[in-house]
Amino acid sequence: MAKLNFENRWVLITGASSGLGREMARHIAAVEKANLIVTARRKERLEQLKKEIESTHPVRVEVLPADLNRDEDVDRLFKRATETAEVYALINNAGLTGYGKTNPADMDAYEKIMNVNFKALMKLSLRFLSYFIERGNGALLNITSLGAYIPIPYQNVYAASKHAARVFTEGLFREYHAYRKKGVFICSFAPGGIRTELLHNSGLDKKHPADSPFNMKADVAARKAINAFKKKKYVSVPGAVNKLALFLAAHLPRHLVTRAAEFIYRPPE
Ligand SMILES: NC(=O)c1ccc[n+]([C@@H]2O[C@H](COP(=O)([O-])OP(=O)(O)OC[C@H]3O[C@@H](n4cnc5c(N)ncnc54)[C@H](OP(=O)(O)O)[C@@H]3O)[C@@H](O)[C@H]2O)c1
Repeated sequence: MAKLNFENRWVLITGASSGLGREMARHIAAVEKANLIVTARRKERLEQLKKEIESTHPVRVEVLPADLNRDEDVDRLFKRATETAEVYALINNAGLTGYGKTNPADMDAYEKIMNVNFKALMKLSLRFLSYFIERGNGALLNITSLGAYIPIPYQNVYAASKHAARVFTEGLFREYHAYRKKGVFICSFAPGGIRTELLHNSGLDKKHPADSPFNMKADVAARKAINAFKKKKYVSVPGAVNKLALFLAAHLPRHLVTRAAEFIYRPPE
């Protein structure tokens, strides 16, 4: 089966200012020789990435800052990206979590998590799918998480947002299956822990240090994500440990799975 070919095409990546998104951008430019539209809130980081990539690879990088917590920014991103270039692929990668007891609730923080991790992903997926179908080709990659399959006490809203992103993407995959023959593909990537700023920003690194052997390096995760995307995998889980965790979660009684997750994520006293 032919792989996706990104060469000389344009790929839009959300959450490209750090972590997995930034590494996917670097990988796509270096290995796939594709042009990039990078977005996130931190414009300076994106400009830095543009400079770095354009000075090392013969590709173009366009910077479109957006706050995906804001509906109007999501709509504007679609408009500006499609005006900037013919977008061949969208990678919905931007995401955040919070760590700690779910109550007392910080509703603003929870809304942000739902807006960025699910609502923006949902809106951009639908906008771009229509665009891809109209143009006769295109590919969508939604980044979910192991937390899209397993309840995660102390990160409940994050896990809920990722479950939503997963079932939404899996349902879309089936609904749009006939379009694969026409060159439109829907894929997802569900990593476990990755050594990125997300661990520090959420406070998760207080429980599990970022350099734990269970956390994948961001460049390794990025390479696996793009290779799976090229193979049009509708769900890809990187790494033997993550695959084992998913297998156990699917086969053990649910009460044991949730108990183990509570133990693994219980915040330090
Ligand atoms: N790290 C892990 O252990 C892990 C595990 C499983 C899944 N994932 C998933 O992998 C994806 C990437 O996360 P990461 O680990 O690379 O984290 P990261 O280094 O913290 O990067 C998150 C990215 O999302 C962007 N972002 C956050 N809030 C945003 C907003 N309101 N508007 C626009 N962009 C926003 C950030 O950019 P700005 O701050 O500049 O806006 C940043 O570029 C996420 O979907 C995450 O859920 C991560």
